[in-house]
Amino acid sequence: MRRLFPSPFSPADLDDREWGLDELADLYAYPAGLPAGTAWLRANMVSSLDGAAHHEGRSQPLSSAADMRIFGTLRGLADAVVVGAETVRQEGYRPARAREAFAARRAALGQGPAPVIAVVSAGLDLDFSLPLFTEPLVPTVVLTGADAPAERVAAARAAGAEVLVAGEGPGVDVARVPGLLAGRGLTRLLTEGGPRLLGQFAAAGVLDEMCLSLAPVVATGTAPRIMAGPPLAVPERFALGSVLEDGGFLFTRYRRV
Ligand SMILES: NC(=O)c1ccc[n+]([C@@H]2O[C@H](COP(=O)([O-])OP(=O)(O)OC[C@H]3O[C@@H](n4cnc5c(N)ncnc54)[C@H](OP(=O)(O)O)[C@@H]3O)[C@@H](O)[C@H]2O)c1
Repeated sequence: MRRLFPSPFSPADLDDREWGLDELADLYAYPAGLPAGTAWLRANMVSSLDGAAHHEGRSQPLSSAADMRIFGTLRGLADAVVVGAETVRQEGYRPARAREAFAARRAALGQGPAPVIAVVSAGLDLDFSLPLFTEPLVPTVVLTGADAPAERVAAARAAGAEVLVAGEGPGVDVARVPGLLAGRGLTRLLTEGGPRLLGQFAAAGVLDEMCLSLAPVVATGTAPRIMAGPPLAVPERFALGSVLEDGGFLFTRYRRV
């Protein structure tokens, strides 16, 4: 892996070598000193060269070992991972692990051993017998609307999940999610999509940072882009923060201007 941007400090930065998890964690550290009650919402997604966000329903064919290393680092830094229910269903989400590599860093910041997984769902058509709900290190959160089916809410709670209401109808008002989680001390937020959830975060103007892995593969087909949904009235501008390269993959990081 090599750093292409910001400009390398020394020729050694251009060496193609494996970056340690500590180095990656330093590069991707969340901003310090957020105003009280606010959160920082970062997204991490992978795309093919032609913009596909998955191949046959999975993102793994677009990924690489280095991509998974960055994926793991971003989880290791987060208080909570916010994810759409379809991604949980398609990708068979499991509880986040406590990883030794991030333990000291997390303890120093007062974080729990692993990030909370927060699943966004209106219908709650989720398998609550899965380890994601029954065996997490920290209880999984389900974010839903006030009109969510009562029996599914009860099933989620019976499984051990914490159900939080973040909308007046059946669905979640995504603009409320960062503040709601910040109010529970979860301020370093990571969303792993999918495209429909991420499109709503972007449209609501609450997406602070985009970590995009560009995979050197072409997929064609009808898979969505990394964000799906109605177009913004005016495209929103982001500024480049860093670029790493590994095996032809570009690991980019952009911040909202
Ligand atoms: N390339 C990548 O990095 C990447 C990352 C993640 C996922 N993916 C791929 O993307 C696909 C899934 O993405 P997707 O866009 O179809 O789905 P998604 O965004 O993961 O999930 C959509 C579901 O989330 C819930 N949801 C979304 N917005 C909501 C709101 N405002 N209120 C309440 N619930 C809401 C609904 O769940 P209910 O139906 O339960 O109500 C909805 O059906 C998978 O194939 C996955 O592999 C790719």
